[in-house]
Amino acid sequence: ISLKAFNTFGLDATAQYFTEVKTVEALVEVLSLETFKDTPKLFLGGGSNILLTKDFEGLVIKIDIQGIEKVDENENHVYLRAGAGVVWHEFVLHCIANDWAGVENLSLIPGTVGAAPMQNIGAYGIEIKDVFEKLEALNLKTLEIEVFTLEQCHFGYRESIFKNSHKDQYVILNVTFKLSKTPNFHIEYGAIKDTLKEMGIEQLSIKAISDAVIHIRQSKLPNPAEIGNSGSFFKNPEIPKAQFDILKEKFPHIVSFPSVNPELIKVPAGWLIEQAGWKGFRDGQIGVHAKQALVLVNYGGGNGNAIKELAYKIQDSVNEKFGILLHPEVNFI
Ligand code: EPU
Repeated sequence: ISLKAFNTFGLDATAQYFTEVKTVEALVEVLSLETFKDTPKLFLGGGSNILLTKDFEGLVIKIDIQGIEKVDENENHVYLRAGAGVVWHEFVLHCIANDWAGVENLSLIPGTVGAAPMQNIGAYGIEIKDVFEKLEALNLKTLEIEVFTLEQCHFGYRESIFKNSHKDQYVILNVTFKLSKTPNFHIEYGAIKDTLKEMGIEQLSIKAISDAVIHIRQSKLPNPAEIGNSGSFFKNPEIPKAQFDILKEKFPHIVSFPSVNPELIKVPAGWLIEQAGWKGFRDGQIGVHAKQALVLVNYGGGNGNAIKELAYKIQDSVNEKFGILLHPEVNFI
């Protein structure tokens, strides 16, 4: 079957076998089938962080485990467990509607709840680790359910244990989040303040912040329903302070952000790609978004392999100009 509707790049690769599971039991049942024991498997959430470079010779399993449940509550917090298949933004809207704070800055990020911890999704000063309590994942070897706490997930900037030592060994089934009853607003990310002002919002609320974030995202990120894309294609590189100082002499306008590691400086990949001349570049049906150079796009009918080649060219040219190697955030399949 075609996977076109199952990846936000809108790439028309096929899957040899495809199934959708709505419960943990159904997932375990599929994984126990003798027929597919040695078949390569690809687990899909919203398909918002993959680049399909060819047809998938194997079994694609779409995780569609739904449900949002309040599992605990105290004076200051509520604990919500959401199924891996819940659409991330629907979870955010559910929290906002109930006045539970913590995820408003993460509004409109494509993808599902189950995929969110994989790369510790983040935006506008907040990461999922800031509201994370625990998750349950299926161990693909033993088919047992295991619990992972915040510490056990080893979250970093767009990183978790599930992208590193535990890669391809677990499927996330549900995530429990810790939301606050009293909001703690995060508007330090410049664009939010300016946007709130522009929108004429005077009374700060989680709804107002969510609206501002949605406004910013819609103004620079292409809607995958219209133009295929996977959000940021590369991670923002972090370089040693000494290397940054040398670059700053050569490129006085270089943009930077502090890193959690005080010895490193984060440089926006979008700036590097724009400076290397790629912003708005188009080659047939694929290209680099004109409003955000960090986003590679498929205008429709594009080819995943061509996007991969374009990514390599961008990597080479940024490396040549700045001596910085960009690392993809998107997973190549
Ligand atoms: N910039 C340019 N040219 C561009 C794009 C960016 O010069 O074409 C410079 C600007 O100076 C801008 C700075 O880069 O001020 C930062 O840009 P932006 O605020 O758009 O954020 P980003 O660093 O490009 C990151 C995340 C996004 C997240 C935003 C907001 C990564 C890889 N990406 O992008 O996450 O929404 O910050 O917090 O960390 C995603 O991961 O898919 C994603 C969209």
